[in-house]
Amino acid sequence: MTMPAEIFVLGISGSPRRHGNTEQLLDAFMEGAVSAGAKTEKTVLKGLTYAPCRGCNACHKNGACVLDDDAPPLFNRILGADVIALASPIYSMGITAELKGLIDRSQYIWAQKFILKTRFFTTAHIIRHKGIFISTAGSSWDNVFDSAFPMITAFFNTMGIEYYDNIIANNLDEFHGIMGHPTALDDARAKGYEVVRAVLKTREMGAGQ
Ligand SMILES: Cc1cc2nc3c(=O)[nH]c(=O)nc-3n(C[C@H](O)[C@H](O)[C@H](O)COP(=O)(O)O)c2cc1C
Repeated sequence: MTMPAEIFVLGISGSPRRHGNTEQLLDAFMEGAVSAGAKTEKTVLKGLTYAPCRGCNACHKNGACVLDDDAPPLFNRILGADVIALASPIYSMGITAELKGLIDRSQYIWAQKFILKTRFFTTAHIIRHKGIFISTAGSSWDNVFDSAFPMITAFFNTMGIEYYDNIIANNLDEFHGIMGHPTALDDARAKGYEVVRAVLKTREMGAGQ
């Protein structure tokens, strides 16, 4: 009998501040995923080199990006992962330039799906690929994450990933950082465990191989 492949969880940190609030929350999520048996890998966008989308629309003709940098190989990693955790602090009421810049570069995959119709994700595939948005913010505003959610939704839609949940922690100025937050790190660990179990369950049910 062949063993089922491990669940692969790819964490992407969009914070320019290494080991800050957002990356620590991502790390806690990854710990939870490991405790559920997943293989994990973390990519820090600050360490990669990629240009913003030029809007040249060349990808509308052939489905490929004209820019040859670190973004297309990362999209291949994303397409090969079972779980994607996208992490960004809130900057000026939105996601960071690092993460938005990456999301814009997925336009060639959007073009494959919606213009050229050379890429198609079945519902079963989408259910078996889960995305999590991880974010932190300094202020206590209830709506501080609201402008980020549609961008994350758009990205997961493009990539054939079900938007599973958010792990968000605001009011971090008052808590003096994520370490002072009463529940966020434990919640992130629990969510990492939970989402891997959820993907395993879809596999047991035979969905979207
Ligand atoms: C350039 C910049 C813009 C920010 N804008 C906001 C904001 O609009 N709303 C907010 O609540 N916090 C804002 N913050 C605070 C960060 O979201 C918060 O400190 C976050 O936890 C930082 O995450 P990090 O430690 O991963 O960098 C901003 C911080 C920076 C550096």
